[in-house]
Amino acid sequence: MTVDQLVARTTMESFRLVYESKVAGASVLLDAAGQLPVPPRFVVLFGSVASVIGSRGQVGYAAANDVLETLAHDWTARTGTRGVTVHWGPWAPVGAHPGMVSPELQRDFSRRELALIDPDEGPLCLLRELAWYDGPPTEATTVVYAPSGWLTS
Ligand SMILES: NC(=O)c1ccc[n+]([C@@H]2O[C@H](COP(=O)([O-])OP(=O)(O)OC[C@H]3O[C@@H](n4cnc5c(N)ncnc54)[C@H](OP(=O)(O)O)[C@@H]3O)[C@@H](O)[C@H]2O)c1
Repeated sequence: MTVDQLVARTTMESFRLVYESKVAGASVLLDAAGQLPVPPRFVVLFGSVASVIGSRGQVGYAAANDVLETLAHDWTARTGTRGVTVHWGPWAPVGAHPGMVSPELQRDFSRRELALIDPDEGPLCLLRELAWYDGPPTEATTVVYAPSGWLTS
């Protein structure tokens, strides 16, 4: 089911459906992780470039991904361990996973020369971020991984 619609037509119910799936879900997981005898050394929240540049018809999704950054900061303040928010651009479909991009949207992106994340490269980006980050370990961070075109379009 898609609940994408322009802000003027967005109802509280449709906003909540998207927003809370992500924000409430992440909050519950982080609360549970924070209560473990030994909390994880880091957590990674999967956000979206939609929260950075907006996404027509997706106000709830953009807002929810933006709030992930706050959850990561709260996590770090609470546990003293790293909270990372990665705002991904759209991934290309792979195997049985159709991705989040419909064929119609894919044609539109292609026309606008907006690339999709290569499913082999995406995980490597995340691993590099975790392995090579050289800032303070107790600092929450946000990174954006979006292929060429996304942040300049
Ligand atoms: N794919 C992309 O291009 C892309 C780009 C930017 C950000 N992201 C973010 O990356 C994450 C993973 O994306 P994905 O493409 O792998 O998504 P996906 O294949 O649709 O997987 C989403 C997962 O979330 C679960 N889920 C959805 N709504 C839920 C709810 N209300 N309560 C509990 N579980 C729920 C689904 O459960 P079921 O399997 O039971 O339905 C599924 O396991 C998402 O947070 C997405 O926003 C993805």
